[in-house]
Amino acid sequence: MKKNIDGSQSKVMKATAQAPANIAFVKYWGKADDALTLPRNSSISMNLDSLHTTTTVEFDAALTEDEITLGFFGEPDTVVSGSKRDRVSKVLDQVRARAKSSLRARVLSRNNFPAEAGIASSASAFAALTTAAISAFGLQLSETELSIQTRLAGSGSAARSIPDGFVVWEKGHDSASSFAHSIAGHTHWALYDIVLVVATGSKAVSSLEGHHLAATSPFYEARLRELPDRLHKIETAIRNHDLQSLGEESEKDMISFHTTAMTSQPPIFYWNGASVDVMAEIRALRGQGIPAYYTLDAGPNVHVLCEGENVAKVQTYFEKHPLVKHVFVAKAGPGVRLISEHLF
Ligand code: DP6
Repeated sequence: MKKNIDGSQSKVMKATAQAPANIAFVKYWGKADDALTLPRNSSISMNLDSLHTTTTVEFDAALTEDEITLGFFGEPDTVVSGSKRDRVSKVLDQVRARAKSSLRARVLSRNNFPAEAGIASSASAFAALTTAAISAFGLQLSETELSIQTRLAGSGSAARSIPDGFVVWEKGHDSASSFAHSIAGHTHWALYDIVLVVATGSKAVSSLEGHHLAATSPFYEARLRELPDRLHKIETAIRNHDLQSLGEESEKDMISFHTTAMTSQPPIFYWNGASVDVMAEIRALRGQGIPAYYTLDAGPNVHVLCEGENVAKVQTYFEKHPLVKHVFVAKAGPGVRLISEHLF
């Protein structure tokens, strides 16, 4: 119990969770059910060990509304309002409903990567938020249940930041069957993602809008038809540490996803000229015997997939590159973890 200034006592329940960002090899694009965040396709990703969000949620009977503070690395913590606060409060509402509580919360969420890195932070943010909120109430959920609860937060890719390492999010056919699970733990394969930031700033069209527009592309159904085979190949490549197969299939998937976006009505261009130039240089590096492959999410930054012995070469090459503003190196990492739990 917490003692208030007026001598009354408040019930305080607090927990801190840390969740990784993830990079998808088979992209989630398009929803079957908006309210439940059910995807049209299963997706596969890898958690990134060095890029994460740490979130503390404290439910406090003394609060009359949620207080949300967000901090990016190198920037001051900022109390948010409006739509940013509403999106967090919506997640807290879902957890409150589960806990049958109306307590308001104090939330402090910090990323260890800068906002201008241009790396999507919503997966790590919503995985950490959901886990901390669930734990603050002392609710005991299985990993499957936690991934479902995180999916319901609205950022579907966040569900993949819950399990360890290399993760598949099964599309399922209803809420109970659409969850993420590990194909292999992070120690299974020291696979690296070297993030080449070619543009900072937020994207012009959100993933949310992109998911809605996907079905307007004449190529979308063709993309969906390709995916069962690709999901199988990528899962097999991960199990066999087969970088060539993983890289080739990831590149195909990324091109198919961006083709869908560019042919939606209205079209969405996530990559830019620098992305296209950098991709050409990665193909050239490959021609010189460096096995490195690329993928891009809903933005222009290029993620280079390679193994340990080539990390320094790729990193050094692009750190000096005029089109590349920042380079971040991450490797396969664990899923969400609880840092502390305080129940009073
Ligand atoms: C292109 O709906 O999870 O990154 O909430 O903006 O993170 P945010 O997006 P979400 O869609 C992610 C789309 C993607 C592909 C992927 O990560 O699978």
